[in-house]
Amino acid sequence: MSAIRYELIKKDKKTGARLGRLHTPHGVIETPIFMPVGTQATVKAMSPEELKDMNAQIILSNTYHLFIRPGHDLVKEAGGLHKFMNWDRPILTDSGGFQVFSLSDLRKITEEGVHFRNHLSGEKLFISPEKSIEIQNALGADIIMAFDECPPYPAEREYVKNSLERTTRWAERSLNAHSRPNEQALFGIVQGGMYRDLREQSAKELTSLDFPGYAVGGLSVGEPKELMYEVLEYTTPLLPENKPRYLMGVGDPESLFEGVIRGIDMFDCVLPTRIARNGTTMTSEGRVVIKNAQYARDFTPLDPNCGCYTCQNYSRAYIRHLLKADEIFGLRLTSYHNLYFLLDLMKNIRQAILEDRLLEYKEEFFEQYGINKL
Ligand code: GUN
Ligand code: ZN
Repeated sequence: MSAIRYELIKKDKKTGARLGRLHTPHGVIETPIFMPVGTQATVKAMSPEELKDMNAQIILSNTYHLFIRPGHDLVKEAGGLHKFMNWDRPILTDSGGFQVFSLSDLRKITEEGVHFRNHLSGEKLFISPEKSIEIQNALGADIIMAFDECPPYPAEREYVKNSLERTTRWAERSLNAHSRPNEQALFGIVQGGMYRDLREQSAKELTSLDFPGYAVGGLSVGEPKELMYEVLEYTTPLLPENKPRYLMGVGDPESLFEGVIRGIDMFDCVLPTRIARNGTTMTSEGRVVIKNAQYARDFTPLDPNCGCYTCQNYSRAYIRHLLKADEIFGLRLTSYHNLYFLLDLMKNIRQAILEDRLLEYKEEFFEQYGINKL
């Protein structure tokens, strides 16, 4: 028995968009969904109560970071990640491969796994598919990810082909190492870079392994957006209809719409929280860089059309003052608003799918937000 069940409620009549429900051991997630990122067992600057207030349904955390510090044994001893961080809703953990590549030096990839140096202490470490799954089994997230390699962009076809074939072998090893399939759903990750036949090969190999869900990896790695949409356009139809599809590391408003239109159900991205901490906010009228001088005496809310805690209670001038003065509360307010904004956008997207007006809603949204403002 699988730990999760995907229920397809309806498809948008004019696009490939899907409205669904994902049943997990820690509750039901309405899809399509955006998952706030809590890399180190915390969504930076937000308490679990605040995340619940803004209706976050599931959060993501990282194997790589928790392995390095505080260690998966410690988290297990605490009773698992849910208990350790006091979050009783669903959690997904990424497998670590991607973070090893983006954060640590001196990494060396072999058939066995990846050798790398701890980016904090310099200590030599090694993660294999078996090790990644051992860590993720100890952390205890509802959804865990196969150990994969995400090739850089651009990359030679030959490199990407060898890499995806190794990712398939690692996916099979991940599956064999998984000791808690009834409590945690293990997703496979489709790679293949920007090569259509390689995406097809990867999807075919992985779907034959029968994972309870599939991710599309290796995107948003520096390629033009149009190319990402094109890859999604031919990749999602290769994935089973009755299982969830997750686009990894993507979460700007335009990509959320374009991903949903192409049949994606789940997204995650550090974007809303990362830009919030340097003072950039996403509003219904596009991005607002709140530190700019033009907001010094602006006593209106960050976003006049937003119902969030920040916008109900504080002005642009006040938030700007806090950020200029390096006050922690400032970045808490911008983080809260940005997460609320994306969660609210996904809620509107779900409603639009229900009413078969997703394309109309997209037009409406960007008319106000402005295209290419991200
Ligand atoms: N996060 C963003 N892209 C990827 C990917 O290709 N693989 C994994 N494991 N995580 C990601
Ligand atoms: Zn707001």
